[in-house]
Formats: sequence, structure tokens, C-alpha cells
Amino acid sequence: MKVVLAWFLMLMGVAAFAASNSYGPITKKDPALEKRIDSLIEKMSVEEKIGQLALRDWGMYSKEQIPQIKQAIREGKLGGFLNVSMSQVNDQAFAELQKVAVEESPNGIPLIFGQDVIHGYKTIFPIPLGQAASWNADLVERGARVAALEASADGVRWTFAPMIDIARDPRWGRIAESLGEDPLLASDLGVAMVKGFQTDDPSQPTSLAACAKHFVAYGATEGGRDYNSAYVPEGILRDIYLKPFKAAVDAGLMTIMSSYNALNDIPATANAFTLKTILRDEWGFNGFVVSDWNSVLEMIPHGFAKDDRHAAELSANAGIDFEMHSDSYERYLPDLIKQGKFSEEDLNIAVRNILRVKMMLGLWENPYPVGNQEDTFLNADFLASAKEAAEQSFVLLKNEGNILPLKKSQKVAVIGPLADAAHEQLGTWIYDGEKKDTRTVLPALKKYVGDDANILYAPGVSYSRDKSTDGFAAAIAAAKKADVILYIGGEESILSGEGHSRGDIRLPGVQQALIGELAKLDKPLVQVIMAGRLIQLDQTLTQSDALMMAWHPGTMGGPALVDVLYGERSPVGRLPLTWPITVGQIPYYYNHLATGRPASDDNYTRIDDIEQEIFQHFPGNSSNLLDLGHLPQFPFGYGLTYSTFSYDKVKINKSKIKLGKSLTASVVIKNTGKVTATEVVQLYVQDKVGSRARPVRELKGYQRVTLAPGKSQKVTFELHTDNLAFHNPSMELVTEPGEFNLWIAPNALAGKALAFEVQ
Ligand code: BGC
Repeated sequence: MKVVLAWFLMLMGVAAFAASNSYGPITKKDPALEKRIDSLIEKMSVEEKIGQLALRDWGMYSKEQIPQIKQAIREGKLGGFLNVSMSQVNDQAFAELQKVAVEESPNGIPLIFGQDVIHGYKTIFPIPLGQAASWNADLVERGARVAALEASADGVRWTFAPMIDIARDPRWGRIAESLGEDPLLASDLGVAMVKGFQTDDPSQPTSLAACAKHFVAYGATEGGRDYNSAYVPEGILRDIYLKPFKAAVDAGLMTIMSSYNALNDIPATANAFTLKTILRDEWGFNGFVVSDWNSVLEMIPHGFAKDDRHAAELSANAGIDFEMHSDSYERYLPDLIKQGKFSEEDLNIAVRNILRVKMMLGLWENPYPVGNQEDTFLNADFLASAKEAAEQSFVLLKNEGNILPLKKSQKVAVIGPLADAAHEQLGTWIYDGEKKDTRTVLPALKKYVGDDANILYAPGVSYSRDKSTDGFAAAIAAAKKADVILYIGGEESILSGEGHSRGDIRLPGVQQALIGELAKLDKPLVQVIMAGRLIQLDQTLTQSDALMMAWHPGTMGGPALVDVLYGERSPVGRLPLTWPITVGQIPYYYNHLATGRPASDDNYTRIDDIEQEIFQHFPGNSSNLLDLGHLPQFPFGYGLTYSTFSYDKVKINKSKIKLGKSLTASVVIKNTGKVTATEVVQLYVQDKVGSRARPVRELKGYQRVTLAPGKSQKVTFELHTDNLAFHNPSMELVTEPGEFNLWIAPNALAGKALAFEVQ
């Protein structure tokens, strides 16, 4: 394809790229740009304007349909395509389709090409949830930049990322695409992705317009069932679910995608409150809003629109600019306008939003793909970044007897379905990534150890859901000969992602049984989990001496894991989610409210200690579960490393601050262990009394500190009273004076509270 495309570009005379207009951030409308849009809009017919609102999925077309599609472009009936790189029918489609739009359509408006470039294009980075575990915005930004460089080489100039749905339910398959449960962490990392994709100058031919999705509260889907309803009170909507979107909009985000779910009974694709009142009127968003794939027409089965025409009317009036996949705008907007059910003024607004983004992307100046230079895809720098991202995503959850790091001299039995699973370690949404490029763990281990005889491979099961125990005997035999058992299991890629939720989040297939058999051998057992969600660990936690969460780590997952397992690097990942003991605790997130009867270890009776036929008894009426208590398996923010850290001299410089001022909180962190390692120091606050009841803790800051053994460092956080704001019952963003608690701690359950007061 590379050669063909270069040849094709030469034929078209595209030798070099034209300098683009740079219009500054989209947060401020640029008068020169607005004028340029005005003069273009004046020339456009209503049909051509409606054409700009049509985004079609190229992946759905057959070869026979190409002439028809080209004719539609020629007539100005299409604004863009998604999934052009996915098509098997024509590998020059980007340039060919664009050529028709630019040279033959009525006003020569270029098409925009979108794609799900979610965690890499060719070089696949860890799934977003894994990247979130790094708590490292710079690294996440770099990953997005690599993805943009690769995707734009093919012709993609718009990515449907970042996915910044706050996610609190590991049953939901799309939690894999999320940046976790915390609004601050998701905001920071979402903004980092926006910056990496768009850069400061989106008109560069290697920049992509980012698309924050899914607007909004998709992550609150009931029961973890995808596409399901979300019921979110407005205060929580604004304080939790909208926060990352607001941060992304303020950072210059160019596009937003509506979600599939109904929010408080109104489908997000026709929700004028979120799409107009909040997004446009309150936030002043100037980019465009795209529907999700077919979400306009899906309002019919939702029971909200009576037919296609009604669906078009509802979405267009609610503020959906670009219709993805379905064609109801094309079919019905002309008539709806004639009937006065949709105004031409609103049509102009939608077209303006789309043209603004297209012009800011410099599509007139550089409409054609950058081209596949030989070194664009999977180059050494990109692979090194992907490896670093994977290394930093791993979360060490248990390490009894310091079984990790492993030693080269140890004989290792490598067992489990994901030790050499090139496709599976890539994770969900890898449209353009290929398993042939994946570096899996097994060969990386052999290379690192340098002695094949020390690596005994017997997977035990052939894939994660395998129910056959036929491979157990070989796995047990290998384990018997080894010094240490390295179990690499979890979930295949397809068990998370869109439409792939689970009700039972234990290790699938017979993996638990296999680990049980291995544990009987009484050898050190290291369990590595690759998965797109948190896993209910059950007895495998006690059966394992060490446990590492590796998510789906992407192209370079193998060598990255080997480096961390053998201590070339110390683990740095921290959980971006609260890890439940069982599915029965879900939803379980750290920033929950207290109750009138807060749970603690001593105010309930364990299920086995309750006497039979006892009269309604006390203690027992607290917010505990009789069988699970109140604590999670691992708290939000938790993660171990190969060293230990002490937290000393935790201080606040003032015990009282005035509204509008800041305080300084500090701690001295010391590496008390034997190797260099990184600690993620976390700042939490609790507003003790509020006009809406406040969470038990909220993350307000975090810093990554790398220290050599014996070294210490003072870590300082500035906390402004604006950082304590929340939406009061009148939905005003306010900081209320009163008493607060503050913790500087290694996770959401640790630390000792210090008090301060806002006056
Ligand atoms: C997903 C979106 C995605 C779109 C385009 C939908 O099914 O919900 O996240 O961007 O498809 O592929």
C-alpha cells in the first residue's frame, strides 16, 4: 500500500504539504475563521449544508457501491467517513474519496476522516484503563501523539477518543476504554490525550481532532449492561460525570460524541439539557457534536422517537451536528425545514460547527494523507514509548516474601492462556493494530533469561474461556520441575469492550481450577492478570504469592512485563479503580458518601456469627455487607513496588484559610527499601458538612516521586479553595466554608487525617 499511495500522491501532484492557517484554540472563536465560514456558507445550498452533516461508515460498503458513494460526494451530500482504513475494498480510499470532494463537489469542501484510534493505531499502547494506572499524564500524552502520527499517515484526521466516561462498574465491558472512576485523574489524563492528538496546532497534517465521548453518563449504565439506562442526579452528573468533559473542552477539545444511553429517561442523542444548556450555553463549546454510531435511529427502539423522521427532528433540534452512520438527516431534514420543524438557522449552526473544525484542521490546505513513510509505523521510538507505557501501567497488588522480582537463575514454569497470545494482549479497539507486530511474554522471557532450559512452557489451557482440563497434567508436570510458577492468565480481548459486559467477573473457563492445582504444589506462584476489567480474585489471591495486574498491555506488553517481573524496573502503577472482593459489592467507588450508619469493622456481626432466630439484633444495622464487610479487595490508588516508602511530617501550613486562598500541604517521602522506585503520593480531602452530603474522600492532587534507596524528598501540594468546590442544590459551583479533613497517603483508604477550616 505504501508504494501505491506514494505513487498516487505524486500523480496528484501532492509533493509537499501547504502551510496551514492556524486559528488558535477553539475555545475562542477566531474572527478571521468565522468570516471564512460565513463566505463559504453563503455559497452553499440547503442540500449541501445537510450533506455536511452526514458521516458514513466506509467499512459498511461493498466494492459495487463505490461509484454510488463517489457520486454522492460529487453532489455534496457527504461530510465525512469513518473506518476508511478498515475497508478491504480499496486501499487508496482516503485519497480517492477526498479528491472527488475537493475537486468535484459544488464548493470543494474536504471530507473529514474519523476512526477509533483509542490506544494506538499500529503501535498499540495499553488499554486506556491500563494507561490510567500509570497516573502519568506526560506518558499518556506521548501515547496519543504516537497514535496521531501513525493514523494521520494513512489519512485519519479525527479520532473517537478519549473515552472519558467515569466508570464505576467492572462488569461493564467498556470500563477497559475508560480512565477509571476518579474525575480528577480522568480529567488530567483525558486532557493529556486531547493534547497528544490535537497538539497546539491542529492544522498540522499530523494532528487529529480529538473526540471526547460518550456524552454523557454512559459509564453509569445500570447493572453494567452496555447501552443501558443511567440515572444520575444533576449534582453527581456535574461533579463526577461531566467534570472530565469540561476539562477537555477548556483544553481546546474539538469534537464530542453523544452516548447511547438514556440519561434520566432522555436519550443522550436528543438531550438538549446536556447538549445545549450545559455544553453550548454554559461551557461555550465551539466544536461539533457527533452522534454515536446509529444512535439517532436507536431512539426508536428506545421508545423515544416514533420513526426515522421523528428521530432526525429530535436529534437535530437537541444539537447533534453530525449524524454517524444512519442517514435520517439526509432523508428528512429538507422536509422538516420546509415544515418549520427544524430551522435553517439551526442548520447553519450545525454546519458552522463542522466547517470550523475542518478549517482548523487545515483540510483545505492539506486534504490528502501524509503518506506512509517507511519509518512512520511501529518505529523504534514508538515501540519504546509503548513499552514504557506498558511498564508503567502494571500494578503490583501482592508480593509476599518478596517473591518478585524474579531472578534469571530461577527455573520458571510459564503457565496460563495469555503468556503467548499475540492478539489477546492488544485489548479492545485495535482496528488497525495487528497481532503479527505483538511481542508476547514467552519469547521475551526466553530472550531475557538467555537460557531456554530455564523456561518451561505449558499453558494448561489454550485460551481464557477454555473449559478443558486436558492441559492440566502437562502444566503441573512443568511446574513440578520449576523453582517458580509464573501464571499469565485473565481475559481475552473480546471479553471486554463495547457490548462485552460480564455478570461473573471471575477468571473465565477453568483458570481458577488450574491455579488451584498449581497452588497445591507448594511452589512460589506469581499470578499475572491480563484483562480489560477488574477480576474477582476469590481464592486465587491467597493461592498466589505475588499478583500483578497487567491489563491488556499492547504491542510491547511482553518485553515490558519481563523487565518489571525481573526488576529491571520497579512497578509504578496504581489502581484507577476500587477493586471489589466480589461482584456483589458493585458499584463500589472510593468517593462514595458516608451514611447515617457508617460501616466499620466493629459495628456489624459477621454472617456466621449471627445466632439463629435472634430477634432483630444489634450490632448489625450499619452499612456493611454481612458476608463481605465494608472494605474492598484493594482500594483506589493502591499499588506496591519493589521498595517501600515512609510518609513523615505530614503538615498543613495553615489550619484556617479564607475563601479564595490556598493552603500548602506537605509530606516527606522516604524510600526505605533497597531499590529505586516511584511512589504516587496522593492528596485527598473530605468536606465534613455540605449543602449536599459530601463524599468520604475526594482526590485533589497526586505526584509521582522517584527516589533512590535511602533518599527522601519533601512533596508539596497547593490546595486552593476553588479546588474544594462542588455544585450546591441550586447547581451553583461553590466552595462552602466549614471544616475539612485532608490526607496525604498512598491510597484512598490510608493515612491520618489533618483538619483545616475554610472561612
Ligand atoms: C461506539 C463508539 C465508536 C463508534 C464508531 C460505537 O459503537 O460506541 O465509541 O466511536 O461506534 O466506531
